[in-house]
Amino acid sequence: MPTTEGTPVTDKHVDTPTHPDADWWRQAVVYQVYPRTFADADGDGLGDIKGVTSRLDHLQGLGVDAVWLSPFYPSALADGGYDVDDYRDVDPRLGTLADVDEMIHEAHQRDIRVIVDIVPNHSSDRHAWFVEALAAEPGSPARERYVFRDGRGPDGSEPPTDWMSHFGGPAWTRVPDGQWYLHLFTREQPDFNWDNREVRDDFLRTLRFWSDRGVDGFRVDVAHALAKDLSDPLRDLGGRHPDALTELPMDGSHPYFDREEVHEIFREWREVLDEYDPPRSAVAEAWVANSRRVLYARPDELGQAFNFELVRAAWGAPQWHVVVDESLSAAQVAGASATWVLSNHDVVRHASRFALPAGTDLNAWLLSGGTDPEPDRERGLRRARAATLFMLSLPGSAYLYQGEELGLPEVADLAPEDLQDPIWERTEHREKGRDGCRVPLPWEKDGPSFGFGASDRPTLPQPEWFGDLSVQAQDGVEGSTLELYRDALRLRRELQGDESLQWLQDGEPTRTLHLRRSTGWECLTNFSDAPVPLPAGEVLLASGPLTDGELPGETSVWLRR
Ligand code: GLC
Repeated sequence: MPTTEGTPVTDKHVDTPTHPDADWWRQAVVYQVYPRTFADADGDGLGDIKGVTSRLDHLQGLGVDAVWLSPFYPSALADGGYDVDDYRDVDPRLGTLADVDEMIHEAHQRDIRVIVDIVPNHSSDRHAWFVEALAAEPGSPARERYVFRDGRGPDGSEPPTDWMSHFGGPAWTRVPDGQWYLHLFTREQPDFNWDNREVRDDFLRTLRFWSDRGVDGFRVDVAHALAKDLSDPLRDLGGRHPDALTELPMDGSHPYFDREEVHEIFREWREVLDEYDPPRSAVAEAWVANSRRVLYARPDELGQAFNFELVRAAWGAPQWHVVVDESLSAAQVAGASATWVLSNHDVVRHASRFALPAGTDLNAWLLSGGTDPEPDRERGLRRARAATLFMLSLPGSAYLYQGEELGLPEVADLAPEDLQDPIWERTEHREKGRDGCRVPLPWEKDGPSFGFGASDRPTLPQPEWFGDLSVQAQDGVEGSTLELYRDALRLRRELQGDESLQWLQDGEPTRTLHLRRSTGWECLTNFSDAPVPLPAGEVLLASGPLTDGELPGETSVWLRR
């Protein structure tokens, strides 16, 4: 319960889980819900908060520790809700604050914590502050909350710098009085000026607002972009957007990504998060190199930062070995716990990534409607299941994305007229975007929108074959991906050890990775196509059928000796 004096708390809003434990997040399984496509309770074709509540039994049965909700705030959906009009309210199409209170309460009843998404780099252009800024004079305090500058060239008609938007096109848009404002994402997502005290205070207020309502943690969107060097003259960058994981300077000298000053902001946030009992958790989304990323996860900052290395690593024992070793040691140096991700709302689902030859250009594949190259779906699912058991055996937290427990592949053949991701238009159709992993979930074998809701026109169209992968089609079916996830999450709770890991394979790995946790729990993953001998021990779970004394190719097994 919040303990700070002055924090407005009422009993109604305080709803702590039944087993408060300050460190629950260090080795948790967190399930990401993309609210607009998870479950639609009111039948308007768009997922909503009551839909989430209605499906909490599914999440409890799955065995997750927490649910992370992508933004459900009022938004014009210029970027799937990551364009926020008001950080302390709910999109009326998705429900009300009372619905969120109820969802939190019902989740806690089931021992599921709730994490909400905070989008501090930018608001939407409909946010009251941005509307005020547009109406105000250049140089006014209202404009100071964002990043407004005069343009270059004799009449100021050139953007202030050559900075590019992450979604294509220039990162500056001109307003009628001639000034330009900065938006690292779409033009509907103006960047805040984090040098401004009012901006900082307002986000502290938002953290308290949700914490007071019983939210257990925060996912921090684009955490590495908040602090910017806005001293004039602004520096040009060569007209391209850097690949944040590989091309950023390691000394914090980029003008808007991963600057040293960003850590002051999160130290201030930690003080607020620690006002609560148990302290609220936080996880940074920071697409920067390992050694820089873990700085966001230091104990006096956010505690965790997403590690996207498994999203990028090609399938193979040597590569995954390096990823795990480097990620664990980086986390250890920072005093953070490790995190693992195979899929989320921004990337091609891993059952499809693993179905494609190594090195496939995923955007080109999406543009081909998912046909060139032709995915090997069986292989993709086999590898996805093996990868899941491997990931879930690692120390630290695993972040699952809605639908991966069904083995869903990417819906790669969405028609151009159905696409909603701003990437499609902003790149002038050169990039297809992220809609294919955001298609509404199939809950039932048939019926309107396969049980997503009563409407037969869900917000994105579902393919015919979705029903075969639905929760209903897999529930209680031996060997289904859903039952594999349920077994794995149940066993993981029982077998969980400290945050260390010991490798058991000899020398440099080539085909297999074999690890042991402090409780004697082992995971052996065969990355090759050919079977390998099964070690001695009691088999607890396998990602595919085992043959006599052997572990088939592209399969993982959990053992105990
Ligand atoms: C993060 C979100 C992504 C969004 C972007 C801009 O990367 O995960 O979905 O488009 O931030 O807010």
